Amino acid sequence: MNNGCVVEALNLYKKYAETVAVDGISFMVNRGEIFGILGPNGAGKTTTIKMLYGFSPMTSGTLKIFDLDIRTDWRDIRSRTGICHQDNNLDPDLTVKENLHVFAGYFALPRRDAAERSERLLKFIGLEQRGDSKPPELSGGMMRRLILARALLNDPELLVLDEPTTGLDPQSRHLVWERIGELKKKGLTVLLTTHYMEEAARLCDRLIIIDHGHIIAEGRPAELVKEHVGHEVIECSPVCEELLTFIKQRGLEYEMSGERLLIYRREGDEQLFHEISHNYCREDCMLRTATLEDVFLRLTGRQLRE
Ligand SMILES: Nc1ncnc2c1ncn2[C@@H]1O[C@H](COP(=O)(O)OP(=O)(O)OP(=O)(O)O)[C@@H](O)[C@H]1O
Ligand SMILES: [Mg+2]
Repeated sequence: MNNGCVVEALNLYKKYAETVAVDGISFMVNRGEIFGILGPNGAGKTTTIKMLYGFSPMTSGTLKIFDLDIRTDWRDIRSRTGICHQDNNLDPDLTVKENLHVFAGYFALPRRDAAERSERLLKFIGLEQRGDSKPPELSGGMMRRLILARALLNDPELLVLDEPTTGLDPQSRHLVWERIGELKKKGLTVLLTTHYMEEAARLCDRLIIIDHGHIIAEGRPAELVKEHVGHEVIECSPVCEELLTFIKQRGLEYEMSGERLLIYRREGDEQLFHEISHNYCREDCMLRTATLEDVFLRLTGRQLRE
């Protein structure tokens, strides 16, 4: 492993009784980058993260973090990693500050340091006024932010965030994005999962999309959009036979999403939108930029997961 690599996962495999949750995935996270794991519900994201942190043992595979083996060196790895779990596992009987102080105790931080860091981190995530509240008195979004603060208590080199912004309002989400950006600038390596494609596109240097425990795409967000969707998407509704015949004759890539027809425009063909909106779909025809959400839906399908 070279020095630029913080996480090296090779053929990670996890089976729970009858369920294969992660089916042989390999990836690397480089020092200082933000790496995303995307995938539909049940794809295996949290299971992967639990293995990374030594929470759930791998069934097979090789996993090195900071060039240390998770099977033997999980204590060292945990002391250098910050984790924000998908569930809000705060102690409801302790105040916000006490939650942080108790957690700092796991890393043997002296009391004064713990108090100082807690105060600084509460400010960092905009909760400095709520230090004496108990978790049940906080909103869901505040709890998520508190968990992010807690994950930073041990001044980690690697920050692992399992859906850090789920349930956050746009204001809090933007604050968290800003903070993650600041942490990256300071050299922190971040591995995160998210269901928000805008978040992944903004934050991630590279990402993988997993489905049914397999990696189905890997790359930089913009490259993935270009590769799997193209430049723009034309959305039309209602769809007439003439339009379908036209797009088939032209060999265009398209897809139905309920009643709407999505036509993917790659480079060139500048007149396509004009042609379609004038000749076939005058009522409701929209042109928009292709996004990571288009990639995600194209690759993982539009069916609901369990
Ligand atoms: N402790 C467990 N025991 C048995 N099966 C489990 C356990 N944890 C997860 N699974 C199963 O493993 C698969 C992957 O679950 P996982 O929680 O990793 O998905 P996820 O990608 O994080 O999904 P979500 O987006 O809903 O959080 C699912 O089929 C799930 O039911
Ligand atoms: Mg999950």
